[in-house]
Amino acid sequence: MEKIHELYEGKAKKLYSTPDPRLVIVSYKDDATAFNGLKKGTIVGKGVINNKMSNLLMQRLEKMGVPTHFVEELNDRETLVKKVSIVPLEVIVRNVSAGSFAKHYGVAEGIVFSKPTIEFSYKNDALEDPLLNEEHAVALKLATEEEITLIKKYALQVNEILKAFWDECGVTLVDFKLEFGRLYDGTIVLADEISPDTSRLWDSKTGEKLDKDRFRRDLGGVEEAYAEIMKRLQERI
Ligand code: TMP
Ligand code: ASP
Repeated sequence: MEKIHELYEGKAKKLYSTPDPRLVIVSYKDDATAFNGLKKGTIVGKGVINNKMSNLLMQRLEKMGVPTHFVEELNDRETLVKKVSIVPLEVIVRNVSAGSFAKHYGVAEGIVFSKPTIEFSYKNDALEDPLLNEEHAVALKLATEEEITLIKKYALQVNEILKAFWDECGVTLVDFKLEFGRLYDGTIVLADEISPDTSRLWDSKTGEKLDKDRFRRDLGGVEEAYAEIMKRLQERI
């Protein structure tokens, strides 16, 4: 399947149309941004890692009953996926306090929750992705109540599957962000990516951060962390 023309360029990926109107090609870049694009940089090799990692994890999820947009990996950076219209919600699942949760509620990072939390942000760069609740999402017609119920069910299922998998790799799945999309017939599927850009992954023994927080917080060793997490995944998958 070949690329026809560029449909969209995001912060970390580009999307291309294909001869089949129901399929698009996603191409992963090495570009990294944080704080709604204020901080910009490059993480060499990130595109290749995120492409492969996201595809391996989505295939595992699909086998375990979570529908995804994944169709076929085309090469190191490019993947054929089902065309969706993105539900403009960032769906964040947390197992351990970190990031904006720790900041908003004035708690330390690293508090293990007795059960996972789910929260939604309105995917809107101009508004800086504000947090919102389910009623707000319905009021704004971002999704129906039925869609939100299904999205929450899938998000918790994804969490159980990925938490167990990362645990086998000696990694704690602290939190992650998912995006869902609607196929042409309205079916909800998991879309976007699952990668160290969109997840917090801590070494289970040392607590070392093996994700994009190394870039966000200028911790150094960014490329090394992406390579390490990919190595651990490939040894287990
Ligand atoms: P947060 O603690 O900054 O709200 O982030 C929660 C999770 O969501 C974390 O794993 C990083 C991910 N995330 C994204 O994928 N994109 C974003 O724009 C933000 C802010 C967070
Ligand atoms: N990629 C997002 C941005 O540029 C945020 C992040 O991942 O921290 O805003």
